[in-house]
Amino acid sequence: MHVDGRPYSTIWLKPDDPCVVQVIDQTQLPHAFAIVDLHSVADACVAIRDMTVRGAGLIGACAAYGMYLAALDAPDSDFPASMARAGATLKATRPTAANLAWAVDRVLAAITAGSTPVVQRALAKVAAETIANEDVEHCRRIGVHGLPVIQSLAQRKPGQVVNILTHCNAGWLAFVDIGSATAPIYAAHDAGIALHVWVDETRPRNQGASLTAWELGQHGVPHTLIADNAGGHLMQHGMVDMVITGADRVTRNGDVANKIGTYLKALAARDNGIPMVVALPSSTFDFSLRDGVANIPIEERDANEVRFMAGQTAQGHMESVRICPPTTPARNWGFDVTPARLITQLICERGICAANEEAILSLFPEQR
Ligand code: MRU
Repeated sequence: MHVDGRPYSTIWLKPDDPCVVQVIDQTQLPHAFAIVDLHSVADACVAIRDMTVRGAGLIGACAAYGMYLAALDAPDSDFPASMARAGATLKATRPTAANLAWAVDRVLAAITAGSTPVVQRALAKVAAETIANEDVEHCRRIGVHGLPVIQSLAQRKPGQVVNILTHCNAGWLAFVDIGSATAPIYAAHDAGIALHVWVDETRPRNQGASLTAWELGQHGVPHTLIADNAGGHLMQHGMVDMVITGADRVTRNGDVANKIGTYLKALAARDNGIPMVVALPSSTFDFSLRDGVANIPIEERDANEVRFMAGQTAQGHMESVRICPPTTPARNWGFDVTPARLITQLICERGICAANEEAILSLFPEQR
């Protein structure tokens, strides 16, 4: 994707020092565009926990590069145990997105092919770069499979704009590039289909307002920011043709964990006969689980994210203001689970399927 006309991805090795990983600081967007250097696995853990990087795909890529940084620092005398500890520390940073543990385990598996720490360090680097490159390719293919979905909506209303509602940010900022929910949107926009995106603000951290609005704007996609609670009203009035979101973890039967509030959008979509589509790369599936509501771990974050809001003042300073009485207690669940029965379609890099075990396994027969 491009930022002010310059091509970027969300994570890369520093060109003149490949022992340093660089990421876009998402806590500063859309007010400032800043790059942060990660020098160690500890830096990678902080970046994930503090949400300098966030979004399932990017968390996975950052964890993979974190394992590479851990390999650079791990002493030869304690290499395997040191890598195992690094993996456990990374996995503990955020619990919900399946991509994190998947990426750590993939790097750990890759380095077992090496017989010395020198070779294993090189294997960790290759594994991290492969995970990042695959992330981009999988998102690209989600766009290829998702384009006909939007084309068919456009064919049903010739001469009119297709209205799509999305929640949170499952865009290129949530991956290495392109995004999951945004991949069909970018593909359709680039193919000349007239579309418009309703962007949920996504309280409490406002990833829709801060990130999705920013990246759609950078790509020239028409969009409008709405309050989180507006979606149902828009659906009742024929102003939404499709809801599309990303996912942080999807069970083998199609239950979807995604940003808190997704479930309410799915309920409203079902009540109004609007397709509820979820886009995800295969790294987001957790084939070990069947009951998402019971078994997907839901991150609970600092209550102050609910009690305070951050933004830019008229003078251009970043400030955080309290929006409730000083002693009001708050709770802050980061995700909810939308049961498979409310989901119309899943789009992943292997194709499109219904949200049920049989359909999912027809795309992933190796998981039977
Ligand atoms: O808390 P975040 O910002 O890491 O949450 C992830 C999300 O942005 C959404 O849940 C998204 O739809 C899934 S990530 C592709």
